[in-house]
Amino acid sequence: MLKPTFRTLSRLLGVALVLGLAPGVFAASGPTDWHMDSFEADLHDQPSMQRGANTYMNYCIGCHSLKFQRYQRTADDLGIPDNVAKELLIHTGQKIGEHMVSAMPGEKAKAWFGAPPPDLTMVTRTRGGEWLYNYLRAFYLDDSRPLGVNNKVFPNVGMPHVMLDVQGVVRSGCAQVPMIASNGGERRDPLVAGKTLTEEKCGELVLDENSGKQTPEEFDQTIYDLVNFMTYVGEPYALERQRIGVYVLLFLVILFGFAYLLNREYWKDVDH
Ligand code: HEC
Repeated sequence: MLKPTFRTLSRLLGVALVLGLAPGVFAASGPTDWHMDSFEADLHDQPSMQRGANTYMNYCIGCHSLKFQRYQRTADDLGIPDNVAKELLIHTGQKIGEHMVSAMPGEKAKAWFGAPPPDLTMVTRTRGGEWLYNYLRAFYLDDSRPLGVNNKVFPNVGMPHVMLDVQGVVRSGCAQVPMIASNGGERRDPLVAGKTLTEEKCGELVLDENSGKQTPEEFDQTIYDLVNFMTYVGEPYALERQRIGVYVLLFLVILFGFAYLLNREYWKDVDH
């Protein structure tokens, strides 16, 4: 009787391990053929998520609610003291126990932008962090659009480029970009060690130099932090779940040990 139990247990352990490792497999990809930079959230990086929360409250909450998330929970999870949260995060005159709702009137917003700004609580789960990270870095000037900007990842989007002052003026133009080898890596010059070969490509994003408050690297970091924060918002239980998951696996390992010993004890007097 005990042999099958032992086997079932080890199988269960195997299934638990596989499930624990599986989520990375289901990363979403972008709908356009724009070359997406990779993004990997780090929900253990509290300073990054705090900076992201700050950016969200300064640049996004004016139009986009996070209506399933409360200020209090955000402050607690991200290690922000209540008084700091009240001062720096809440610009809408709300109480700290309330949901993070935008003051933007939905109907008017639709008339202004052509589409109402959607709630973004779940956007990293529906669109994926990688999509969002690229979308927010892909606005460029386009005089043919009502708001004067367009987006490489979300063509003809109704959203203005709200971080233009930070990123600077970006145009769609021709630029020298690294040549990509057939294996997906950058092509190197075999004669000059380490030198990447480039080619001219049009339809690329080109930044007017020194037109933004941040350098391109700083802006990438700002958007990384913002998307990191939004990934947390989409799944505030993720941190808790990881912690519990570790205990569950530990418990299974211990149980496995006992089951094994018990199994040996039962079978030791049986002739094989
Ligand atoms: C002035 C208002 C406004 C601000 C501020 C704003 N947005 Fe938007 N956003 C919009 C509108 C309008 C849309 C809908 C566009 C459409 O569907 O064409 C939109 C769409 C989006 C979408 C696409 C959602 C989807 O799944 O279709 C994302 C993601 C987004 N915004 C993120 C942000 C972030 C992050 C910020 C802050 C950096 C921000 N927005 C600031 C107006 C705004």
